[in-house]
Amino acid sequence: MFRTDTCGQLRMTDVDREVVLSGWVQRVRKMGGMTFIDLRDRYGITQLVFNQEVDAALCETANHIGREYVIQVKGVVKERYSKNANIPTGDIEIIVSELTILSTSDTPPFTIEDESDGGDDLRMQYRFLDLRRDCVRKNLELRHKLAFEVRRFLDSENFLEIETPILIKSTPEGARDFVVPSRMNPGEFYALPQSPQTFKQLLMVSGFDRYFQIAKCFRDEDLRADRQPEFTQIDCEMSFVEQEDVLNIFENMTKHVFKAIKGIEFEGNFPRMTWHDAMKYYGSDKPDIRFEMKFVELKDLTEGKNFVVFDSVPYVGGICAKGCAAYTRKQIDELTEFVKRPQVGAKGLVYVKCEEGGTYKSSVDKFYSQEDLKLWAERFDAQPGDLLLILAGETSKTRKALCELRLEMGNRLGLRDKNVFAPLWIIDFPLLEWDDETQRYYAMHHPFTSPKPEDIALLDSNPGAVRANAYDMVFNGVELGGGSIRIHDSALQDKMFEILGFTQEQAHYQFGFLMDAFKYGAPPHGGLAFGLDRFVSLLAGLDSIRDCIAFPKNNSGRDTMSGAPSIIDDAQLKELQIKLDLQA
Ligand code: AMO
Repeated sequence: MFRTDTCGQLRMTDVDREVVLSGWVQRVRKMGGMTFIDLRDRYGITQLVFNQEVDAALCETANHIGREYVIQVKGVVKERYSKNANIPTGDIEIIVSELTILSTSDTPPFTIEDESDGGDDLRMQYRFLDLRRDCVRKNLELRHKLAFEVRRFLDSENFLEIETPILIKSTPEGARDFVVPSRMNPGEFYALPQSPQTFKQLLMVSGFDRYFQIAKCFRDEDLRADRQPEFTQIDCEMSFVEQEDVLNIFENMTKHVFKAIKGIEFEGNFPRMTWHDAMKYYGSDKPDIRFEMKFVELKDLTEGKNFVVFDSVPYVGGICAKGCAAYTRKQIDELTEFVKRPQVGAKGLVYVKCEEGGTYKSSVDKFYSQEDLKLWAERFDAQPGDLLLILAGETSKTRKALCELRLEMGNRLGLRDKNVFAPLWIIDFPLLEWDDETQRYYAMHHPFTSPKPEDIALLDSNPGAVRANAYDMVFNGVELGGGSIRIHDSALQDKMFEILGFTQEQAHYQFGFLMDAFKYGAPPHGGLAFGLDRFVSLLAGLDSIRDCIAFPKNNSGRDTMSGAPSIIDDAQLKELQIKLDLQA
């Protein structure tokens, strides 16, 4: 028997028991004639004691053990002389009588502690060691618990978990596909699913009216802190539902998960905001509503005072930073530099300090009188002591920049507490998005999303104004999930493909199977998918979803541990009948 107990289990009630423990050596400390080893496993740390005077040979062996050796010990549990209140096993220790080295270890390249001395790259290269750290392991435990609670909830609501294929025909979801060559069909390729979208719709046609899957998805897109090339969705679909039904059930699922994992209960329904309002007041379709600081538009109040910067653009708007009027020149300069960064993209920043006594100090007071500035301040509902920060330019670009500035101010003012959770449904997304470069419409969500019935008439006359039955669940400025009610009528789906610029042949080539299925009795259906990695990160308060993925990729899409992607040998290429023609 390798162990009678784990390293996190023993307490005062076990004193005088003989136990066997196995685990990894966290630390070896020698003090006089005594040697102490902290033995670690997934469950905790237990202190082992070796006494030179009792067994010199055993103590000598213990003295030669290194960090991360795997050992087995037999001994008796005793109350500790100096207790350690920081760990649950801190009241006891094991007086060791037998020691077996099960496996030796090279010196690890970084310390296996929460505060490790290893940099990101090194830890990723040795991810199997990184995963031994308490703080990383906890994230994977949370991930397991979340997936478990999701399954528990969905099972209780009659959802069936059904797997769908990984080698598929490309499903466009807006990103590039990863492709896999087919040896048996030379010159042809599978795509890895960006999501199981078409398959879950087919399952609805097959009559599985409540489907879910914890599904791997693959997207070849630029990576960010909340994006991995392979990630996991809690993918769901339901038949005979309207938008309201879908929102209800998945709001309840989210509440269930928060309660089960964090003990947090949300009061009432999650708030809802139209996409239009989200863009107008927050410059983003995923506003962080842990704090207010809504945009206020000023264009009409700024006109005709010879300030060309404002007069020459369609949008002038800003935010009110409460209590920041005392910002120094240096702080304002920092904010100006911030908004001018290419990622933010503003040309400059105008400020108005609302001072005690109702006077205003501004970077544009050459153009605007105290009376003018007072009107601005009133529109912001600003009080003495507040600071107005104003940007101007093309409407959507300026709103985006203002969104970044708002979030930056939220950070500076400590308004984005990771322990506060602010859910929000964004609804009424536009169905289509115009792309200037290619001069065509794209589906904002995906081509299977249903327009709102009352907007269908606009499809011909003003496609850009058509709203979709599409929705996102947002938490703390992160898009946690999104979905839509689908088109289940082949004629409307054909129309949608036409608007998206597909010829009939193209549409048939790409989606013929789905269109055919719709000819055999398709129920009205809709669904959504949550990003599981994002959900875990939110609950764990992580900055990057990488920290809750056992073996993630780095920002260049590489797995530096195994060395993927890698070159394959000529024989493999030959078998696939593929010749490389790499451009320099
Ligand atoms: P969507 O593309 O919005 O919808 O994706 C759903 C959710 O998946 C997560 N997500 C990601 N997480 C990590 N890395 C990525 N690269 C990544 N991309 C997306 C987000 C997102 O909200 N088939 C539709 C769903 C539906 O209509 O039912 C879909 O995939 O949390």
